[in-house]
Amino acid sequence: MTTLRETLSRSRSDVPFDIVRGAYGELHVTNLEASQHFYVDLLGLVESARTPDTLYLRGWEEQTHHSIVLRERPKAAAARLSFRVRTPGDLDALERSFAERECAHERVTGELAGMGEALRVWDPFGFPLEFFHEIARFPTQLQRFDLHRGAPIMRFDHFNIHAPLVEQTTDLWLDLGFRCTEYISTDGDDERMTGCWLTRKPLVHDLAMTAGVGPRLHHLGLATADALGVLRACDQLAAAGHAGAIERGPGRHGVSNAFFVYLRDPDGHRVELYTGDYYTGDHDHPPLRWSVSDPSCRSFWGAQAPDSWYDESSVVLDPNGEPTPLRASGVDERVARSVLMA
Ligand SMILES: [Fe+2]
Repeated sequence: MTTLRETLSRSRSDVPFDIVRGAYGELHVTNLEASQHFYVDLLGLVESARTPDTLYLRGWEEQTHHSIVLRERPKAAAARLSFRVRTPGDLDALERSFAERECAHERVTGELAGMGEALRVWDPFGFPLEFFHEIARFPTQLQRFDLHRGAPIMRFDHFNIHAPLVEQTTDLWLDLGFRCTEYISTDGDDERMTGCWLTRKPLVHDLAMTAGVGPRLHHLGLATADALGVLRACDQLAAAGHAGAIERGPGRHGVSNAFFVYLRDPDGHRVELYTGDYYTGDHDHPPLRWSVSDPSCRSFWGAQAPDSWYDESSVVLDPNGEPTPLRASGVDERVARSVLMA
């Protein structure tokens, strides 16, 4: 029988497309002015473009057009998880791959500012994905220290999703050429995974999943230059009267080693400010396992995440733009931890 570690150690080098990294997230927000205040005035993201109902924002290091797209709509939702591919031809190979899985998919061109052709896909679990290559460029402002504002946020780093079928969802991403760097699982013979970190770029992850009610987007991870940037963001939010936006942390993760804070935007979408993970470019390194009973896995200093962090997430949209129906997860990290620690 194949063990979970053996399953997660498989690394495919034969996939006929090359996904470079998680590139941006598209969120539906109910009040664009309120969102602009949060993401631009308080967190310091750079405005790349704006239409009456859409705001395109990027980090200071980002050379592609946007790290986040905010579109004003009647109901808040996570509209898209978007990945950049290495060449335009990668879209054809990806389209064949998802067509074989009988997934809904479509090509769009120029629907969003700064973008060329993109492939949109609803994966077998209902997550709305996008793959693209062509996008307008900006010069990096990494060293425009004279202009930096906010944390500052440097670039998009990762998606974290709430997945009810966490093992099956992980299999899909392994088939797409992602590698598992770390995971959390229960102890004993009936080992169950409660969290998984998957990557294409040589850092800890482009996509993480947490076992839970889904499909939903748990958070967008945004990279800051250093831990002081995370603390500066907290100070600035509190001083501006937005201390209530700070949901969890700041602190250091066990998994990934990153310094972090989780924030909730005006619509409740969760964003993580994240910095200080590590190199993962050696493809034969085995995944690092954390026991769910280890209190340092989620927070290295032992603090437990609040229930809201486990229970609340952003709904995702189906091909008709409606919220995708939810299903329960077969494993809950908190329950597994309390049983094991009793
Ligand atoms: Fe994260």
